[in-house]
Amino acid sequence: MITLKSPDEIEHMRRSGAIAANVLDAVRKRIGPGLTTQELDDFAASEMARVDAQSAFLGYRGYPGHICISINDEVVHGIPGPRRIALGDIVSVDVGVKYQGFIGDTADTVAVGVTDWNVRRLVQSTQDALAAGIAAIKVGGRISDISHAVQSLVEARGYSVVRDFVGHGVGRQMHEEPQIPNFGPPGEGCKIRVGMTLAIEPMVNLGGYEVSVMPDKWTVRTRDRKPSAHCEHTVAVLEDGPVILTLVDGVNK
Ligand code: MF3
Ligand code: CO
Ligand code: CO
Repeated sequence: MITLKSPDEIEHMRRSGAIAANVLDAVRKRIGPGLTTQELDDFAASEMARVDAQSAFLGYRGYPGHICISINDEVVHGIPGPRRIALGDIVSVDVGVKYQGFIGDTADTVAVGVTDWNVRRLVQSTQDALAAGIAAIKVGGRISDISHAVQSLVEARGYSVVRDFVGHGVGRQMHEEPQIPNFGPPGEGCKIRVGMTLAIEPMVNLGGYEVSVMPDKWTVRTRDRKPSAHCEHTVAVLEDGPVILTLVDGVNK
């Protein structure tokens, strides 16, 4: 069942989205060589506490961190720990917050002194794929229009989209219906309707699309150990079309 949000619920989603975006932006600005991912998680936790928000991830199916930090060949769900960020890394940060009962979910990948042109282009392409997916949201269209737009852009650039994890509805729960794959033909799935709130999140691999989950039961890595990037926005479908709820001061940072 898809829960359509009322205007009042969308207002709540706006606030949660803005908080998630601000936390992600603050974390993004801190990222640099030498910092451990645990230090980043601690910082994110304090940023959430400062505005009376909670992590939507901590304790979710037993997840131990406040945010997810996935480096290089890690795709998503990297657990913060003693690993130090190094020059040449790409660092994917996923932030989910709960505020007054509603969730905002957003992610971005930061290149830390990356000189490899193809890796830089992978990150840029993932951001572009997210924008293309959002641009495909049309009231009366279908969910898989989003999927198709993401996949087309990614494959035209020579990269691949992860199959095993997908975008999703978001609201009072972090993962609501519908599922939003980043691949597939257009014109399928349920109709896009006013009041939907959706998390669009392409995961893009430089090599093959295959991934596997590590023995820590969370960290997802590419099978070929090539790099992967991840970007995500929470979007509300309004009468005039999609509105991104996880922008900082109304812009992509
Ligand atoms: N935020 C992730 C998503 O975009 C889910 C993270 S689940 C967690 O769907 F448990 F790892 F936090
Ligand atoms: Co997320
Ligand atoms: Co998500």
